[in-house]
Amino acid sequence: MHTASPSFDPTVARGHILVIGNEKGGSGKTTTSMHLIVSLLRLGFKVGSMDIDARQRSLSRYIENRKSTMASENTTLPLPAHVVINRSPFLTTAEAEADERERFTRALARLLANCDFVVIDSPGSDTYLSRLAHSYADTVITPVNDSFVDLDVLASVDGISMQIVKPSIYSEMLWEQKMQRAKRDGGKIDWVVMRNRLSNLDARNKRQITKVIEDLTRRLGFRLAPGFSERVIFRELFLLGLTVLDVVETNKAGTLSMSHLAARQEVRDLLKSLQIPVIDARIAQVRVGAKGDVLTDPRIAPIAKPAAAETSANASVSAVASPSGETASTSDSSPPSTETASASGSIVAA
Ligand SMILES: Nc1ncnc2c1ncn2[C@@H]1O[C@H](COP(=O)(O)OP(=O)(O)OP(=O)(O)O)[C@@H](O)[C@H]1O
Ligand SMILES: [Mg+2]
Repeated sequence: MHTASPSFDPTVARGHILVIGNEKGGSGKTTTSMHLIVSLLRLGFKVGSMDIDARQRSLSRYIENRKSTMASENTTLPLPAHVVINRSPFLTTAEAEADERERFTRALARLLANCDFVVIDSPGSDTYLSRLAHSYADTVITPVNDSFVDLDVLASVDGISMQIVKPSIYSEMLWEQKMQRAKRDGGKIDWVVMRNRLSNLDARNKRQITKVIEDLTRRLGFRLAPGFSERVIFRELFLLGLTVLDVVETNKAGTLSMSHLAARQEVRDLLKSLQIPVIDARIAQVRVGAKGDVLTDPRIAPIAKPAAAETSANASVSAVASPSGETASTSDSSPPSTETASASGSIVAA
C-alpha cells in the first residue's frame, strides 16, 4: 500500500488530473492523450503532461516532433509543460517503489501548481507507476480497440452466451486505486471508457460489442464516451507532432477534408463526454461571437495571444533528480513561477 508524499497536498485547490490508461498495448492511449492535450491548450487552459511510459516514450516523442515542426516551419504551436518519469534503478521493490512515488508526486505537485489540467499517458502494461498514477486521477480515460480481444481488458466474456464472466485484472486494479484515492483524500475517480478505431465493417460484431459494453458500464461503473473512428488522420500526424486540431494552423494537411471535420467532432465529443464543468464553460465562453471553430481556428483560440502570465503552458517544469543521476534542467529548489518559459518548451526527466 502506498501513501501520499508530503509534497502532494490534496487539500489545496488544484487542476484536474486525467489519466489515460489501458493495460493492453496499442489501444490508442498516446493518440488520445495528445489530442486531449492539444484541445485543452487550444481552449486556453494551462496544461501539464506526464509520460510514465519511459520505455516507449511515445508521448514525449510526439511532443519532440511537434517542436521540430515548429522549428522547421518557423511557427508557434501550443505546448504543454512536459515531464517524463523514469523507472527507478533501485533493485529492491520497496526502494524502487518509494523512489518512483517520490519523483511522481513531486513532479505532479509542480505541474498542478502551474496547470489547469495534467494529462498522464500510461504504459500498456501493469507497472507500479501506472497504478500510482491511476490512484491520483480525477478522470481515467480508457481507450479500447473495437474488438472482443481488446474488450478482454475490461472483463472476460463468454463467447457463446455473451455473458460477462468476471472483471479483468485492469478493472480490479482500477477498483483498488479508487479505494486508495478515497482513503487518501476522500476523492472520487470518474472512469470513462472510449471505443477506438471504430469501423463500419462487421456490423454484427459491432452490435455485440455495443451490447457487452453497455452491460459492463453497469457492472464495472464506468461511463461510455462516443470514441474515435479508424482514421488515417489520427495516425499520420505523429511524425510531425501534430493533431487533427492543428491542421488548420499549419495547413499541413492541405485543405480540410470531411475526415478532418469528422475527427475534430469526435475529439470535441470526447471533451464533452468528460463532463468537466470548466471545459464546458470555456467552450461556451470562447464561442461567443466567434465564426470559426474554437478548437482549430487560430484566430479565435485563446492561445493565439500569448500572455506573460499564461506562459506556463510552454514553460519547463523541473523535477527532482533521480538516484540514477538524471537531473532536471532547472534546479528543484527554484519555484516553478520563476522558471523561464520558452517558445520551444522543454522535456524534463524525473
Ligand atoms: N482512431 C485511430 N485511427 C487510426 N489509427 C489509430 C487510431 N488510434 C490509434 N491509432 C494508431 O494505433 C497505433 C497505436 O496507438 P497508440 O500509440 O496511441 O496506442 P497506445 O495505447 O498508446 O500504445 P502503447 O500501449 O504501446 O503505449 C498507432 O499507430 C496509432 O497511430
Ligand atoms: Mg502509448
